[in-house]
Amino acid sequence: HEQKLAELKSKIKSYPDFPKKGILFWDIFSAIADGATCKLLQTLLLETIQVKYKDVEAIVGLESRGFLFSFSLAAALGVSSIPVRKKGKLPGEVVSYKYDLEYGSDVLEIQKDTIRPGQKCLIVDDLIATGGSITAAVNLLKACQADVIGCLAVIELESLNGRKNIPDGISVHSLIKHD
Ligand code: PRP
Ligand code: MG
Repeated sequence: HEQKLAELKSKIKSYPDFPKKGILFWDIFSAIADGATCKLLQTLLLETIQVKYKDVEAIVGLESRGFLFSFSLAAALGVSSIPVRKKGKLPGEVVSYKYDLEYGSDVLEIQKDTIRPGQKCLIVDDLIATGGSITAAVNLLKACQADVIGCLAVIELESLNGRKNIPDGISVHSLIKHD
């Protein structure tokens, strides 16, 4: 497992000053353009779920890069794949959660009839930076009375302390850590 993690880490490139000056962009897409890395990443995520979150009933993916993982993992496990999207993108009855950003605010939504109270949900995304996206998703799922069993990300930027912002009692796991 550790060797596979080191191999994955070596495949994920970063781009300085993208999309803005001063931001180091960790790019999951260039890594999964390689088929062997796709398989390696899927294997590592599934191994983590088997060890830490084996009772999961729904994989909740955050728009948009989280969708890369939510469907493929849910399909492999035979559990629900549920999207959390930005406002106005999902049809039918939705539950909304408004949260603050550095400038302004944003709203996340989930389709009400896809989620049931007590459902064991695992949130997946490519990256934890400030933790704001995952925190908003945790709060949205809590508003639906779902049971958030954890959050799983490919990369975590430790210097931003995103983990500290995620509500207490929520398990957080990332495959790869960077400063
Ligand atoms: C990026 C990334 C995570 C989030 C992490 O998404 O994919 O979802 O930011 O940042 P945070 O921990 O500070 O919330 P982005 O909003 O850029 O959109 P995308 O997934 O559609 O590219
Ligand atoms: Mg994202």
